[in-house]
Amino acid sequence: METSLLRIDQLGDAAAIIAAGGLVAFPTETVYGLGADATNASAILKIYEAKGRPSDNPLIVHVADVGGVLRVAKEVSPITQKLIDAFWPGPLTIVMPKGASVTSELCAGLPSVAVRMPNHPVAIELIRRAGVPLVAPSANRSGRPSGTTWEAVRDDLSGSVDAIVCGEPTDFGLESTVIDITQSPPCVLRHGAISLTAIQDVCPDVVSVEDLEAAEQGRLRKSPGTRHRHYQPHARVMVAGLKTDVMGNTLSVGQTSSAVSRAWIGLSSPNPSENWRIIKVCENVDEYARALFSFFREMDRLGVEAIVCERVSEDGIGRALMDRILRASVDE
Ligand code: TXA
Ligand code: MG
Repeated sequence: METSLLRIDQLGDAAAIIAAGGLVAFPTETVYGLGADATNASAILKIYEAKGRPSDNPLIVHVADVGGVLRVAKEVSPITQKLIDAFWPGPLTIVMPKGASVTSELCAGLPSVAVRMPNHPVAIELIRRAGVPLVAPSANRSGRPSGTTWEAVRDDLSGSVDAIVCGEPTDFGLESTVIDITQSPPCVLRHGAISLTAIQDVCPDVVSVEDLEAAEQGRLRKSPGTRHRHYQPHARVMVAGLKTDVMGNTLSVGQTSSAVSRAWIGLSSPNPSENWRIIKVCENVDEYARALFSFFREMDRLGVEAIVCERVSEDGIGRALMDRILRASVDE
């Protein structure tokens, strides 16, 4: 399949491809999404194929307004309405009871559906022109870092999708926060730009999946996506500033051999006496988050063997950033 590269003023063409059951990657404020008509089961199956995505990992539905939510969800409950009022459009995905007409391919057989309204003019205009909600997982091969530029999407998916809408690099650089309101208490399943504390200001009883994990082993319904390998470049990822193994094989910098070609990313400079091939110092945590996935991809292109990521404090987007870094650092 030849992949067309479309400008952001060619959304009519993009919408026509979606109406014909095709796949179009497009920018959002978090990461690029790989879009298809959420009402078309065969288009949805093509997404799993193009990404190499496990079929038990359900997709997020993107809507342009609250009317779109009711096309896929059973209802807009009072708590959903509160979250919508506080955070939409924006990087918050809400898992809610699914509507009767939703195809099972979309939800991977679950009784719930994940929905979000992106805060991005191109994404919203594309959904409006398509006239249907769009399913859109992150536009990357499954397991790879999410695409934050159209070039990254092209590198992963060229030849497997019909078109890529070539917008700007994304604002946040990390995927949306996912909250499940079908569980009691409501539970943040994936950290993102909207922090747990910001959500708790609106809905105080919300907890995070890690809070529940220890106490409720076995009973907990996690996001299927968090079971799979994620966000990994080919280079080995390590975390500087961690004293102990947090997840699997996270190592401290001192344990890497200086013979290995190494890159550094963080908020401060690494020890200059160590041998660094590339050093990227970010001005603040937002820039670090925005840069992380494209840095991973760039280091793979350069053949760097190990990427050392400096630990940051886990407030605001720092929690999502550390979550992605730690997952990328786990050997499976
Ligand atoms: O920022 C984002 O959310 C991006 C952009 C494109 O919107 N999309 C994205 O989609 O990251 P994806 O497919 O890469 O991640 C969706 C996550 C997965 O972890 C999946 O398991 C979870 O949402 N999810 C989807 N439906 C769910 C459901 N019904 N219950 C629990 N988790 C669900
Ligand atoms: Mg993804």
